[in-house]
Amino acid sequence: MNNGGATIDRRLSEAEIAEILEDASHYTQKSGASIEALKIVQKHRGWVSDESLKQIADLLDMSVDELDGVATFYNLIYRRPVGRNVILCCDSVSCWMLGADRVREKISERLGIGYGETTPDGEYTLLPIVCLGACDHAPVVMVGEDLYHDVDEARLDQMLNKGA
Ligand code: FES
Repeated sequence: MNNGGATIDRRLSEAEIAEILEDASHYTQKSGASIEALKIVQKHRGWVSDESLKQIADLLDMSVDELDGVATFYNLIYRRPVGRNVILCCDSVSCWMLGADRVREKISERLGIGYGETTPDGEYTLLPIVCLGACDHAPVVMVGEDLYHDVDEARLDQMLNKGA
């Protein structure tokens, strides 16, 4: 469960540990489960704190630096608290050519936040992202797990009202 920015840091729960170890059991080296383990903790807490990162690294027999490297390169792992809904605006070339900047401006106007910011109610965080693989339907925006194609003002209303 994503609690948004209100998540309180604490030890990993039994359920989180069980899920991580279950996933790691499919790999010869536990570190093979590193991305999945980060996703498991993020699913429960909304983001991955330093304390959680350390505990996951211990479980997977990895150093904290190694695991942090994985988390840094995988841009859907959040290392700071985020809102209940993360809005990812593609800013790669196809989306940029077809109005991604305008879409981002409209979202910023509506929510009063820029990139890297979260609304005061903890509902939305806005972040840029590289190509989401749907360039033929640019501009593309992802809200939570939902991908929105051909985003225009009407689509924006649909996107933002759904998460509210
Ligand atoms: S450039 Fe935006 S989805 Fe590919």
